[in-house]
This record gives sequence, C-alpha cells and structure tokens, in this order.
Amino acid sequence: MRILAIETSCDETAVAIVEGEQAGKETKFEVLGNALLSQIAVHQEYGGVYPMLAKREHAKNLVPLLSAALEEAELIHESEQVISEEKREAITVLLEREGGLAASLLEFLKECEPPKIDAIAVTAGPGLEPALWVGVNFAKALALLWDKPLIAVNHMEGHLLSALLQERGASTYILSDISRPLLGLLISGGHTEIIEMKDWLSYTLIGSTRDDAVGEAFDKVARMLGLPYPGGPEISKLAERARERGGNNPYTLPRPMINDDSCDFSFSGLKTAVLYQVRDNELTDTDKENMAHAFEDAVADVLYAKTLRALEETGAKSLAIGGGVSANTYIKRTFAERLKNDRSDISLFMPPASLTGDNAIMIALACYYRALAQDYADTETLRANGNLALAKDSK
Ligand code: KG4
Ligand code: ZN
Repeated sequence: MRILAIETSCDETAVAIVEGEQAGKETKFEVLGNALLSQIAVHQEYGGVYPMLAKREHAKNLVPLLSAALEEAELIHESEQVISEEKREAITVLLEREGGLAASLLEFLKECEPPKIDAIAVTAGPGLEPALWVGVNFAKALALLWDKPLIAVNHMEGHLLSALLQERGASTYILSDISRPLLGLLISGGHTEIIEMKDWLSYTLIGSTRDDAVGEAFDKVARMLGLPYPGGPEISKLAERARERGGNNPYTLPRPMINDDSCDFSFSGLKTAVLYQVRDNELTDTDKENMAHAFEDAVADVLYAKTLRALEETGAKSLAIGGGVSANTYIKRTFAERLKNDRSDISLFMPPASLTGDNAIMIALACYYRALAQDYADTETLRANGNLALAKDSK
C-alpha cells in the first residue's frame, strides 16, 4: 500500500510517500519520498510557536514539499491535465482561507498526472488548530482531485508507532510483531501521557499530565535560562556538560507527584521551583549547566517512576517511548539502564533518531494500520481538532 502523508500540526511542514507491506510477521515500510521543512528559525524570535505564523508558513510550503516528495519518489509524470470546472471551484472554496494555496496547487497539478498512490493521510490532531486545518484542507483537496481515499491520523499515534520501527538501511524500516500489552510513554511539546495498547489501534489512557507537558517544561525552563527555542536540545547539551564535569550540584529540585498513587504527572511546580531559584540572580554558565542538570534529573526520575508504576499496574510486556522529548539522550539512557535492572523482562522501544521529531513518515505509518482497518475519513465532514485524544480515560 502506497501512502502520501501530510503533517502540519505544529512548526514542521512535512510530506512523505511511504510504501507499507506485510512480510510474514513483520511489516516493511519503505520511504520513497520525504520532504520536511522546519519553521524553527521563523518562530525563534518569538521564543515559541506562533500559530497564525505557522499556518501561513505551512500554506506557503506545502506545494513545494509535495512536489519534492513526489519527485524523490519518481512519481511525477508531466502531462497536461484537464481539471474540471467543478473540481477547480471545489478546491478554491476548500482552500479559500489558506492564502495562495489553491492557486499554487492548481498550477502544480495542471502539469502533473495523478500519482500512483493508494491513500492520502493527514494529521487531524492534536496540535495547533490553525496549523492543522491547512494540512487537512490540503489533503481533502488532493483526495478530491485525485479521487483517493482520505485517512485522518492522530499525531500521537504516529509518535507511538514510530517508536516501534527499526531501521534497515537508509530508507527502510521494519515493524516486528511485539508482545502486548504495549505501554506507550508519549512525551512531546504538547503532551505527556502513558497509554496502554492491548490490541492494535485500541488505546486506554493510564496517566497524563495535570498541567504542563514535559516538552513545554523544557522549553519554559530554557527560556528562564536565556536559551533559544526549542529548549529541549539546549537544556540537554548544558546538562551533559555538568554531568561530565561531575562534583556536587548546588541545585536541588522537587520530583512532583513521584510518590502519589496515580500514573499522572505534574510539571508546572518543577518549572516554578526553577523560577524561584534563578530569578533575581545573575547566572554564570556553570550555574546554568547545573540547573539544566538538576532539571533533567528531576524530569527523568519522575517519568521513569510513573512508567514503572504503570508497567506494574497494567502488566504490560513492552514499552515504547515516543514524541519530540524522546530525542533526549539522558532520558533514553535512564530508561535503558534502570529497566535492565528493575524490569529486564520488558522490551523497550524507542524511535530511530531521525523520527523523534514531527515528521510525515510516522503519519504514513499510522495511516497504514488505519487503512487496513478501513477506517476512512469523510472528505466532507473531517475537521481538524486541536485536542484530539488518542485514548479514552480509563478512570
Ligand atoms: O513531538 P514534537 O516534535 O512536537 C510536538 O508534537 O509537540 O516535540 C517537541 C518538543 C519540544 O518541546 C522540544 O523542546 C522537545 O520536544 N525536545 C526535547 C529534545 N528535543 C526536542 N526535549 C528534551 N530533550 C531533547 N533532546
Ligand atoms: Zn509531535
């Protein structure tokens, strides 16, 4: 099954073409084309993602990225296309709020045969709603123009499933059969949750943050330390320097909710604790490194303790960690080392480094399983949903 996937939920615009195929107990995913543009530089001066700006950038970049991904997949065949007046009008109405997107899409498609793909996938949520809408409307337009089925994907499902991929060469990934139940620890800029997957595509919420997401806490603490957006990688760099230097860390931070009897998290108190210690103080570079170190340690301890609790409560056999924060080396190391000691029976999965951040390959991956389940979206009624939940609360 050949899938064209679109991701615009936050500050990455991405288009990928992925071929999925069952091979015995394994599923093979071949990336035929992958085009991604990060807007980090655009948002950096605001210290965070500015939704209306993100929307405008997505609208500007989608056609060039579509063209690049199709080109890489060798799916562009030029020939003059007749687009009916009816379709032309439908596209114009569909994309009327997306700047010049309708015009640039029609211009591009005028000379491009419908590509040989089986489905179009798009992130329908969660994320920034204005940003999500651009992708959803663009995907609807393509589905309409090319008469292809449309599949709505939950961004967090993409993060979860991409953790299960193993790299086989430059553009091939394998997803093996895994022991279930699987527990997913999803840590990103907007989410922090523990999810149980008893069966494919069936999710239960085991725990979630009561306030800030962990990536958000990284970003906010980075800002307090005068570091650029996105803060996660910056904090991580500084914390590693402090660890290498060794010695006692003068800063200590709380581990919120670590001993309560739930699998929920809270990071806003931790963030405030940092604020109290850094405000009104002139911090040296060494101070900043020590604070980053203290913060990262606190986050890793809480994430690990809650996940361990959830593993026990659910009887899960495998653990997958996904989302932007799963790029964090210290968190990865903490889980790998401590699990080996505490729960060596658990198989641990983490995404290939190239797939930790937002991308369209993970959207194609989730689409593959949705398509097998014939879970198609309605091009008329599909809506972007900033708060789209992956799992229903078990409580
Ligand atoms: O999944 P993602 O790319 O976007 C969302 O879906 O939110 O996650 C972005 C988040 C940001 O908060 C960023 O600071 C964080 O992931 N992040 C990291 C690291 N790399 C990215 N946090 C900690 N350590 C990292 N190395
Ligand atoms: Zn994400």
